Amino acid sequence: MSESPFADCGLDPARLERFAAAERARFVAANPRSQALAARTSRHWLLGSPLHWMNDWSTPFALHVAHAGGAHVTDVDGHERVDFCLGDTGAMFGHANPAVVDAVRAQVARGCTAMLPTEDAAWVGEELARRFGLPLWQSAMTASDANRFLLRWVRAATGRTRLVVFNGCYHGTVDDVFVDLVGGRPRVRDSLLGQVHDLTRHTTVVEFNDLPALEAALAGGDVACVLAEPVMTNVGMVLPDPGFWAQAQALIRAHGALLVFDETHTLSSGVGGYAREHGLAPDALVLGKPIGGGVPCAVYGFSAALAERAAASKRAAPPGHSGIGTTLTANMLAMAALRATLAEVATPAAHERMTATCTRVADGLRAAIARHGLAWCVTQVGARCEFQFGPRPPRNGSEAEALGRPALEHLVHLALLNRGVMITPFHNMLLASPVTSDDDVARLLAAFDDVLAELRE
Ligand SMILES: Cc1ncc(COP(=O)(O)O)c(C=O)c1O
Repeated sequence: MSESPFADCGLDPARLERFAAAERARFVAANPRSQALAARTSRHWLLGSPLHWMNDWSTPFALHVAHAGGAHVTDVDGHERVDFCLGDTGAMFGHANPAVVDAVRAQVARGCTAMLPTEDAAWVGEELARRFGLPLWQSAMTASDANRFLLRWVRAATGRTRLVVFNGCYHGTVDDVFVDLVGGRPRVRDSLLGQVHDLTRHTTVVEFNDLPALEAALAGGDVACVLAEPVMTNVGMVLPDPGFWAQAQALIRAHGALLVFDETHTLSSGVGGYAREHGLAPDALVLGKPIGGGVPCAVYGFSAALAERAAASKRAAPPGHSGIGTTLTANMLAMAALRATLAEVATPAAHERMTATCTRVADGLRAAIARHGLAWCVTQVGARCEFQFGPRPPRNGSEAEALGRPALEHLVHLALLNRGVMITPFHNMLLASPVTSDDDVARLLAAFDDVLAELRE
């Protein structure tokens, strides 16, 4: 007999298998319209949905959405769920915020794209510089693109090719970063499709919080930049050790390399992101997903010194395509959404509310975990928190990876969905928006308590 997928969860596998079967049946019975639509959708979309990940949720078929507003998502069968996934941060500030809706509606009527800036571009540039403390910016359509473009600028500016990343990192679909440490050796991630280059030639991977390894990686003098989330958020959450970034940045500077922070997720830390909250001064910064209130766009910023070198590299290059930018990049619609989000949505007050709400969520999760005697931990970064299947928060990607229990994760997610709560697929992240109410938190905590009781009793 094959081993149960729940064998290594520290819980009764037979009980979990029964619970999983019951939850799948409950989901199927409650979502006939989603099921019918999923059958139709999968007829003409490769692997079943317009983006194949959409079929990787915990559900037997993709839930189809009717509409989303504030902190809630309503599916086509009429179930309104409290949304703690928030589009995996794309909707960090809540769905369909009226300020963004109004700005987008007005801009669509005035045109979406002309390959030229509007007045919004001037305002947004000024605000990005004020808020994030970097003087010069460029735009992209996605955080993946922003990271990809920034790597080009950094390599062009420094004349160096090597990139250092942390094991288990994710920066979108940027090929260069998909190098893992496997048994202490770098290896191109097995799951990458169609990748033909040996990414280990220009990428060095080290464990997070490992200063000696970082120093060794920098020692060759060929590193253009270290690209990192200030807190790892995509392999489960991994916090930096106290003082890690100050020491890491000193090493990076000493070796003539640059520090690039990808704050796409850690914008949850506060109004100026993690770096501003913690007094760090990266050479460049990437902000994606939530920065346009859910409208596709991203921005990336340069220190004055890096900007000067980047601009010089452009001036020195022959005329022609830089390999940076796409036709719709910085379009008028994106700029309108950016302006509305920065001016009216992602305000200091909104961040304060989100963080306070998330603290209640994290405390409530910890209390439920303790009540049910589970050896799980909860980590919080501003408006974002995550429970992990181990007693202590991991210190690096390998430790975080080792805490993964995919079958258990799917079961908890599905059981929460069946109880009216959505959390982020692919890990156990919950995000509080400025419009997440006390009642929403109460619904989550009641559902979580109920699910843990089912796992345990
Ligand atoms: C830290 C980080 N950077 C970049 C990205 C890529 O964002 P997008 O998929 O919008 O390109 C993600 C996506 O999850 C991310 O977590």
